[in-house]
Amino acid sequence: MSAIERISRFLLLASTVGLIAAGCGDSSEPPATPSSPTPAPIPTPEPAKPLPDQPATSQPQGGNVEAGLADYQIYCASCHGQTGAGDGPVAPTLPVQPAKHSDGVYMNALDDAYLFKVIAEGGRAVGKSEMMAPWGGSLTDDQIRNVIAFIRSLADPPYSP
Ligand code: HEC
Repeated sequence: MSAIERISRFLLLASTVGLIAAGCGDSSEPPATPSSPTPAPIPTPEPAKPLPDQPATSQPQGGNVEAGLADYQIYCASCHGQTGAGDGPVAPTLPVQPAKHSDGVYMNALDDAYLFKVIAEGGRAVGKSEMMAPWGGSLTDDQIRNVIAFIRSLADPPYSP
């Protein structure tokens, strides 16, 4: 840095500090007196926004079967079984047997909103066994939709929305 540059930087800095100091030290202004209230701005409604495009999908609530499989294996298969037959390794130890997701006659009669509720809030929230725990704290809403899409894919006869 040349000497000229250094000096001009110093001057710039000094003048900036000077300006700030001047701004702060200005206490001669009279305290703001309550004048006639300014009328509140009238809120204008936002122009209607077009709805975002919904992704075209045949899966329930937009759930993704593949992603659902991954979470199902981690969180659900121990009781409900890999193929949803209700035969996971933990099932024999439970006082109430886990629902068979492969049983389409039973499962297809349950709507997505109900499944979401029982998975997120647990069996107790729908009058079922608390052995079915609430998963809303572990899974996001999207993850729950994915798991629903996956368990729908296990149903025999197949689920059709
Ligand atoms: C600790 C064992 C266990 C785990 C883990 C478990 N469940 Fe369950 N689940 C149960 C039991 C037991 C029932 C049966 C409750 C009843 O019939 O009262 C059940 C019932 C259900 C039902 C049917 C509710 C109905 O109305 O019949 C669904 C759907 C379900 N579970 C989904 C899941 C999903 C999805 C997961 C993973 C996120 C999961 N469960 C994890 C034990 C478990």
